[in-house]
Amino acid sequence: MLIDIIAGARPNFMKIAPIIEAIKNAQLRGSKLEYRLVHTGQHYDEKMSGEFFKQLGIPQPDVNLEVGSGTQAEQTAKIMVKYEALLLEKPAAICIVVGDVTSTMACSIAAKKLNVKVAHVEGGIRSGDITMPEEVNRIVTDSITDYFFTTSEVANQNLRKSGFSEESIHFVGNTMIDTLLKNLPKLKQPEIWNTAGLEEKKYFVVTLHRPSNVDDATQLESLIREISAHTEDYKIVFPVHPRTRKMLDKIEFDQSKFILSEPLGYLEFNYLVKNSFAVITDSGGITEETTVMSIPCITLRTSTERPETCSIGTNELIGNNAADLKPWLNKLFAGDWKKGGIPPLWDGKTAERIVEILEKLI
Ligand code: UD1
Repeated sequence: MLIDIIAGARPNFMKIAPIIEAIKNAQLRGSKLEYRLVHTGQHYDEKMSGEFFKQLGIPQPDVNLEVGSGTQAEQTAKIMVKYEALLLEKPAAICIVVGDVTSTMACSIAAKKLNVKVAHVEGGIRSGDITMPEEVNRIVTDSITDYFFTTSEVANQNLRKSGFSEESIHFVGNTMIDTLLKNLPKLKQPEIWNTAGLEEKKYFVVTLHRPSNVDDATQLESLIREISAHTEDYKIVFPVHPRTRKMLDKIEFDQSKFILSEPLGYLEFNYLVKNSFAVITDSGGITEETTVMSIPCITLRTSTERPETCSIGTNELIGNNAADLKPWLNKLFAGDWKKGGIPPLWDGKTAERIVEILEKLI
């Protein structure tokens, strides 16, 4: 029984790693599950992809579709054409897609049209903001998903509201947190710790990559200016996503407080987060990791598909108006941040639950 596991972009890699490990463990116990790891090549840099495979012990992909950069439609089309050809050459019984990136949607469509069952890990979450490419990817993928593996009760409710059957919804928890809990003891101090003279809890980590924050020079400039103005004498570590780099090179700002770096490896990035005073981000996945590590997190977005990081965790969604940063940063410096708890089933055992269900399904 061949199961395809699709990975395309950076936030996919930490989600597939524990699923592959759990399948391998099941095989050692005599399971007939077999997997084929398909990398679409949406992210291709060593820093955005290769490094993650190495650090997380993910085996080399069985197939790399090597689609590379392009517009949303170009990437979607290239992935669909190449993945369809692969399925025609050697069919799979189930296609597992994770998260909400272009590769997730493209592969689920190609699979479904060849009557391959689609399993969506992290299915059912919604930001409600249809202007985000990720929201389109979520809605399209879920509309043709056979098996939902969900991270939260909110996701389950979203799916029920859309009319999906109870039998198709499997509330299993969060594979990204499986990876985090497994790797916490192995986190690695990055070189910049010493070169930049970082000290525990005396710096911020900032990440920005959403088109709404980084594709417009004025927006990016004002976010950076406000962050810099209201973070006292704390340093600001800013690992820069390739999309953001293009715009950052065009704007002028006082770089003295910033430690700008290339995208970091998983172990180095989370080392920095774990030891930081707080995180400012527009990522979704990072808000889950800060919740589990109890690090205060400010999210520069108007919506989140992960509301439990706010209702249970340490995250505050403040919108993307730069002028709104100051009161929240004041609250942080006043020591007045919520403590937060851990959402149900974010316990490190999600991939095991997924594999148990897959075994029953086949
Ligand atoms: C994608 C995902 C987003 C995820 C993010 C994390 C979609 C729609 N978006 O956005 O959900 O949070 O990844 O990284 O799938 N580039 C490189 N090297 C690479 C990859 C990309 O230089 O290895 C460049 C591309 O040429 C492109 C830009 O970065 O110009 C953006 O890459 P793209 O894959 O289009 O989307 P992301 O913004 O990374």
